[in-house]
Amino acid sequence: MNAIITDNEKAIIDKHNRILSTISHDLKSPMIALLGFSRILLREIEATNENQRWLDMLKIIIDSGEDMFGLIEDILTMAKMEAGKEMVEFELIEDLAKELIGIEKTFGCEAKAKEIDLSVVIKSHLPVVRWDMKRLRYHVLNNLVSNALKFTPSGGHIVISAEAFEKTVLLKVTDTGPGIPAEMQDKIFKRFGHTEMCSERTKKGDGLGLYNAHLFVTQHSGRISLDKSVHHGATFLIELPVDILKQQEEGQSNIEDKKIKTINRHKLLL
Ligand SMILES: Nc1ncnc2c1ncn2[C@@H]1O[C@H](COP(=O)(O)OP(=O)(O)O)[C@@H](O)[C@H]1O
Ligand SMILES: [Mg+2]
Repeated sequence: MNAIITDNEKAIIDKHNRILSTISHDLKSPMIALLGFSRILLREIEATNENQRWLDMLKIIIDSGEDMFGLIEDILTMAKMEAGKEMVEFELIEDLAKELIGIEKTFGCEAKAKEIDLSVVIKSHLPVVRWDMKRLRYHVLNNLVSNALKFTPSGGHIVISAEAFEKTVLLKVTDTGPGIPAEMQDKIFKRFGHTEMCSERTKKGDGLGLYNAHLFVTQHSGRISLDKSVHHGATFLIELPVDILKQQEEGQSNIEDKKIKTINRHKLLL
Protein backbone atom coordinates (compact mmCIF):
# COMPACT_ATOMS: atom_id res chain seq x y z
CA MET A 1 0.00 0.00 0.00
CA ASN A 2 2.83 2.37 0.84
CA ALA A 3 5.09 1.07 -1.90
CA ILE A 4 7.50 3.71 -3.18
CA ILE A 5 6.74 4.62 -6.79
CA THR A 6 9.39 5.42 -9.36
CA ASP A 7 9.56 8.78 -11.24
CA ASN A 8 8.42 6.98 -14.37
CA GLU A 9 5.36 5.50 -12.64
CA LYS A 10 4.61 8.91 -11.10
CA ALA A 11 4.70 10.53 -14.56
CA ILE A 12 2.28 7.91 -15.90
CA ILE A 13 -0.08 8.37 -12.91
CA ASP A 14 0.06 12.19 -13.37
CA LYS A 15 -0.80 11.87 -17.04
CA HIS A 16 -3.56 9.36 -16.27
CA ASN A 17 -4.98 11.74 -13.64
CA ARG A 18 -4.90 14.74 -15.99
CA ILE A 19 -6.94 12.81 -18.56
CA LEU A 20 -9.34 11.48 -15.91
CA SER A 21 -9.77 14.98 -14.42
CA THR A 22 -10.57 16.53 -17.78
CA ILE A 23 -13.15 13.85 -18.60
CA SER A 24 -14.66 14.03 -15.11
CA HIS A 25 -14.91 17.84 -15.22
CA ASP A 26 -16.60 17.65 -18.61
CA LEU A 27 -19.06 15.04 -17.34
CA LYS A 28 -19.86 16.91 -14.16
CA SER A 29 -21.77 19.88 -15.64
CA PRO A 30 -24.22 17.85 -17.78
CA MET A 31 -24.70 15.48 -14.83
CA ILE A 32 -25.63 18.38 -12.55
CA ALA A 33 -28.24 19.51 -15.14
CA LEU A 34 -29.61 15.98 -15.63
CA LEU A 35 -29.93 15.37 -11.90
CA GLY A 36 -31.34 18.83 -11.18
CA PHE A 37 -34.08 18.61 -13.82
CA SER A 38 -34.89 15.00 -12.91
CA ARG A 39 -35.41 16.02 -9.29
CA ILE A 40 -37.73 18.86 -10.35
CA LEU A 41 -39.72 16.43 -12.53
CA LEU A 42 -39.88 13.97 -9.62
CA ARG A 43 -41.35 16.63 -7.34
CA GLU A 44 -43.92 17.63 -10.00
CA ILE A 45 -45.02 14.04 -10.67
CA GLU A 46 -45.11 13.25 -6.95
CA ALA A 47 -47.36 16.27 -6.40
CA THR A 48 -49.89 15.12 -9.00
CA ASN A 49 -49.77 11.60 -7.56
CA GLU A 50 -50.97 10.26 -10.92
CA ASN A 51 -48.45 8.21 -12.79
CA GLN A 52 -46.65 5.65 -10.63
CA ARG A 53 -44.85 4.15 -13.65
CA TRP A 54 -43.23 7.50 -14.53
CA LEU A 55 -42.35 8.01 -10.90
CA ASP A 56 -40.58 4.63 -10.72
CA MET A 57 -38.66 5.29 -13.94
CA LEU A 58 -37.60 8.71 -12.78
CA LYS A 59 -36.34 7.28 -9.49
CA ILE A 60 -34.17 4.82 -11.43
CA ILE A 61 -32.79 7.68 -13.56
CA ILE A 62 -31.97 9.68 -10.42
CA ASP A 63 -30.35 6.68 -8.65
CA SER A 64 -28.18 5.92 -11.68
CA GLY A 65 -27.31 9.60 -12.04
CA GLU A 66 -26.28 9.76 -8.40
CA ASP A 67 -24.05 6.67 -8.82
CA MET A 68 -22.41 8.29 -11.84
CA PHE A 69 -21.98 11.58 -9.99
CA GLY A 70 -20.33 9.69 -7.10
CA LEU A 71 -17.89 8.11 -9.53
CA ILE A 72 -17.00 11.48 -11.05
CA GLU A 73 -16.46 12.98 -7.59
CA ASP A 74 -14.27 10.03 -6.53
CA ILE A 75 -12.07 10.34 -9.62
CA LEU A 76 -11.68 14.09 -9.13
CA THR A 77 -10.87 13.61 -5.46
CA MET A 78 -8.29 10.93 -6.27
CA ALA A 79 -6.61 13.12 -8.90
CA LYS A 80 -6.57 16.12 -6.53
CA MET A 81 -5.19 14.16 -3.59
CA GLU A 82 -2.51 12.43 -5.64
CA ALA A 83 -1.41 15.79 -7.04
CA GLY A 84 -1.25 17.13 -3.46
CA LYS A 85 -3.95 19.68 -4.32
CA GLU A 86 -6.48 18.57 -1.70
CA MET A 87 -5.75 20.69 1.36
CA VAL A 88 -6.11 19.59 4.96
CA GLU A 89 -7.67 22.41 6.94
CA PHE A 90 -7.30 21.68 10.63
CA GLU A 91 -9.81 23.05 13.08
CA LEU A 92 -10.49 22.37 16.74
CA ILE A 93 -13.37 19.94 17.22
CA GLU A 94 -14.69 20.51 20.72
CA ASP A 95 -17.42 17.90 20.58
CA LEU A 96 -16.35 14.90 18.52
CA ALA A 97 -19.24 12.79 19.85
CA LYS A 98 -21.69 15.31 18.36
CA GLU A 99 -19.95 15.07 14.97
CA LEU A 100 -20.28 11.27 15.01
CA ILE A 101 -23.94 11.50 16.00
CA GLY A 102 -24.33 13.84 12.99
CA ILE A 103 -23.12 11.01 10.73
CA GLU A 104 -25.59 8.64 12.38
CA LYS A 105 -28.36 11.16 11.61
CA THR A 106 -27.25 11.56 7.97
CA PHE A 107 -27.61 7.83 7.35
CA GLY A 108 -30.47 7.26 9.81
CA CYS A 109 -33.26 7.21 7.20
CA GLU A 110 -31.41 4.86 4.85
CA ALA A 111 -30.59 2.51 7.76
CA LYS A 112 -34.18 2.55 8.94
CA ALA A 113 -35.48 1.84 5.43
CA LYS A 114 -33.14 -1.17 5.25
CA GLU A 115 -34.05 -2.25 8.80
CA ILE A 116 -30.47 -1.94 9.96
CA ASP A 117 -29.65 -0.71 13.44
CA LEU A 118 -27.10 2.12 13.18
CA SER A 119 -25.61 3.44 16.41
CA VAL A 120 -22.75 5.47 17.86
CA VAL A 121 -20.81 4.22 20.89
CA ILE A 122 -18.48 6.56 22.74
CA LYS A 123 -16.13 4.31 24.73
CA SER A 124 -14.23 6.92 26.72
CA HIS A 125 -14.12 10.65 27.34
CA LEU A 126 -13.11 12.21 24.02
CA PRO A 127 -10.58 15.05 23.96
CA VAL A 128 -10.76 18.20 21.83
CA VAL A 129 -9.16 17.12 18.56
CA ARG A 130 -7.58 19.13 15.75
CA TRP A 131 -8.86 17.51 12.55
CA ASP A 132 -10.28 18.48 9.18
CA MET A 133 -13.68 17.13 10.20
CA LYS A 134 -15.46 18.17 7.01
CA ARG A 135 -13.11 16.21 4.74
CA LEU A 136 -12.78 13.38 7.23
CA ARG A 137 -16.52 12.96 7.14
CA TYR A 138 -16.71 13.28 3.37
CA HIS A 139 -13.71 11.19 2.31
CA VAL A 140 -13.64 8.63 5.10
CA LEU A 141 -16.55 8.18 7.49
CA ASN A 142 -19.38 8.63 4.98
CA ASN A 143 -17.75 6.10 2.68
CA LEU A 144 -17.24 3.53 5.45
CA VAL A 145 -20.82 3.89 6.67
CA SER A 146 -22.28 3.78 3.15
CA ASN A 147 -20.20 0.66 2.37
CA ALA A 148 -21.49 -0.92 5.58
CA LEU A 149 -25.07 -0.03 4.60
CA LYS A 150 -24.53 -1.43 1.11
CA PHE A 151 -23.36 -4.83 2.36
CA THR A 152 -25.23 -5.39 5.65
CA PRO A 153 -28.45 -7.35 5.27
CA SER A 154 -31.63 -6.17 6.99
CA GLY A 155 -31.80 -7.01 10.66
CA GLY A 156 -28.05 -6.30 10.92
CA HIS A 157 -26.12 -3.74 12.97
CA ILE A 158 -23.63 -1.00 12.17
CA VAL A 159 -21.70 0.66 14.98
CA ILE A 160 -19.55 3.77 14.75
CA SER A 161 -17.38 3.90 17.87
CA ALA A 162 -14.73 6.20 19.27
CA GLU A 163 -12.14 5.68 21.98
CA ALA A 164 -9.39 8.01 23.14
CA PHE A 165 -5.82 6.98 23.90
CA GLU A 166 -2.93 9.11 25.10
CA LYS A 167 -2.16 10.83 21.80
CA THR A 168 -4.62 9.25 19.39
CA VAL A 169 -8.30 8.64 18.91
CA LEU A 170 -9.45 5.34 17.47
CA LEU A 171 -12.60 5.39 15.37
CA LYS A 172 -14.20 2.11 14.31
CA VAL A 173 -16.92 1.32 11.82
CA THR A 174 -18.21 -2.20 12.37
CA ASP A 175 -20.94 -4.05 10.55
CA THR A 176 -22.56 -7.48 10.59
CA GLY A 177 -22.45 -7.98 6.82
CA PRO A 178 -20.56 -10.73 4.96
CA GLY A 179 -17.15 -9.19 5.68
CA ILE A 180 -14.28 -9.05 3.20
CA PRO A 181 -12.85 -12.33 1.86
CA ALA A 182 -9.19 -12.95 2.71
CA GLU A 183 -8.09 -12.77 -0.94
CA MET A 184 -9.57 -9.26 -1.29
CA GLN A 185 -8.32 -7.80 1.97
CA ASP A 186 -5.01 -6.54 0.60
CA LYS A 187 -6.60 -4.97 -2.48
CA ILE A 188 -9.38 -2.83 -1.02
CA PHE A 189 -7.18 0.20 -0.19
CA LYS A 190 -5.37 0.12 -3.52
CA ARG A 191 -5.76 2.48 -6.46
CA PHE A 192 -8.36 0.88 -8.71
CA GLY A 193 -7.91 -2.30 -6.67
CA HIS A 194 -11.53 -3.11 -7.51
CA THR A 195 -10.59 -3.92 -11.10
CA GLU A 196 -9.01 -7.08 -9.69
CA MET A 197 -12.12 -7.90 -7.66
CA CYS A 198 -15.17 -9.79 -8.70
CA SER A 199 -17.68 -7.24 -10.06
CA GLU A 200 -20.56 -8.98 -8.27
CA ARG A 201 -19.01 -8.04 -4.91
CA THR A 202 -18.46 -4.39 -5.75
CA LYS A 203 -22.22 -3.83 -5.96
CA LYS A 204 -21.79 -1.22 -8.68
CA GLY A 205 -19.21 0.81 -6.72
CA ASP A 206 -16.19 2.35 -8.42
CA GLY A 207 -13.79 0.95 -5.83
CA LEU A 208 -12.09 4.30 -5.20
CA GLY A 209 -13.73 5.15 -1.89
CA LEU A 210 -11.33 3.24 0.37
CA TYR A 211 -8.30 4.31 -1.68
CA ASN A 212 -9.31 7.97 -1.28
CA ALA A 213 -10.02 7.36 2.42
CA HIS A 214 -6.52 5.89 2.79
CA LEU A 215 -4.94 8.88 0.98
CA PHE A 216 -6.77 11.37 3.19
CA VAL A 217 -6.09 9.58 6.50
CA THR A 218 -2.40 9.32 5.59
CA GLN A 219 -2.37 13.02 4.71
CA HIS A 220 -3.86 13.55 8.19
CA SER A 221 -0.93 11.63 9.73
CA GLY A 222 -3.22 8.77 10.66
CA ARG A 223 -3.77 5.16 9.68
CA ILE A 224 -6.76 3.31 8.25
CA SER A 225 -6.94 -0.47 8.19
CA LEU A 226 -9.22 -3.45 8.18
CA ASP A 227 -9.27 -5.28 11.50
CA LYS A 228 -8.23 -8.74 10.37
CA SER A 229 -8.66 -10.16 13.86
CA VAL A 230 -12.45 -9.82 13.57
CA HIS A 231 -13.87 -12.75 11.65
CA HIS A 232 -17.53 -11.80 11.37
CA GLY A 233 -18.68 -8.77 9.40
CA ALA A 234 -16.24 -5.98 8.53
CA THR A 235 -14.46 -3.73 11.02
CA PHE A 236 -12.52 -0.71 9.78
CA LEU A 237 -10.13 1.10 12.13
CA ILE A 238 -9.08 4.73 11.79
CA GLU A 239 -6.36 5.92 14.11
CA LEU A 240 -5.78 9.66 14.15
CA PRO A 241 -3.48 11.84 16.22
CA VAL A 242 -5.43 14.04 18.66
CA ASP A 243 -3.53 17.13 17.58
CA ILE A 244 -0.80 16.58 15.02
CA LEU A 245 0.25 20.24 14.99
CA LYS A 246 0.81 20.25 18.75
CA GLN A 247 2.63 16.92 18.58
CA GLN A 248 4.87 18.29 15.82
CA GLU A 249 5.59 21.40 17.89
CA GLU A 250 6.40 19.23 20.93
CA GLY A 251 8.53 16.98 18.73
CA GLN A 252 10.30 20.11 17.53
CA SER A 253 10.85 21.35 21.08
CA ASN A 254 12.13 17.88 22.09
CA ILE A 255 14.65 18.16 19.29
CA GLU A 256 15.57 21.66 20.52
CA ASP A 257 15.88 20.30 24.11
CA LYS A 258 18.12 17.49 22.91
CA LYS A 259 20.25 19.97 20.98
CA ILE A 260 20.67 22.11 24.12
CA LYS A 261 21.49 19.01 26.20
CA THR A 262 24.03 17.88 23.61
CA ILE A 263 25.59 21.36 23.51
CA ASN A 264 25.74 21.38 27.32
CA ARG A 265 27.34 17.94 27.32
CA HIS A 266 29.92 19.13 24.84
CA LYS A 267 30.53 22.15 27.08
CA LEU A 268 31.00 19.84 30.05
CA LEU A 269 33.27 17.60 28.04
CA LEU A 270 35.31 20.61 27.02
N1 LIG B 1 -18.36 -3.06 4.86
C1 LIG B 1 -18.03 -3.83 3.82
N2 LIG B 1 -18.48 -5.13 3.73
C2 LIG B 1 -18.12 -5.92 2.71
N3 LIG B 1 -17.30 -5.55 1.68
C3 LIG B 1 -16.85 -4.27 1.71
C4 LIG B 1 -17.17 -3.36 2.77
N4 LIG B 1 -16.54 -2.20 2.53
C5 LIG B 1 -15.86 -2.34 1.38
N5 LIG B 1 -16.04 -3.59 0.88
C6 LIG B 1 -15.42 -4.14 -0.36
O1 LIG B 1 -14.36 -3.28 -0.73
C7 LIG B 1 -14.60 -2.73 -2.04
C8 LIG B 1 -14.02 -1.35 -2.15
O2 LIG B 1 -14.77 -0.41 -1.42
P1 LIG B 1 -14.73 1.13 -1.85
O3 LIG B 1 -13.30 1.47 -2.09
O4 LIG B 1 -15.48 1.93 -0.88
O5 LIG B 1 -15.41 1.13 -3.27
P2 LIG B 1 -16.93 1.05 -3.71
O6 LIG B 1 -17.80 1.28 -2.50
O7 LIG B 1 -17.06 2.17 -4.68
O8 LIG B 1 -17.05 -0.31 -4.32
C9 LIG B 1 -16.10 -2.82 -2.22
O9 LIG B 1 -16.47 -2.86 -3.57
C10 LIG B 1 -16.42 -4.14 -1.51
O10 LIG B 1 -16.16 -5.24 -2.34
MG1 LIG C 1 -17.50 2.83 -1.12
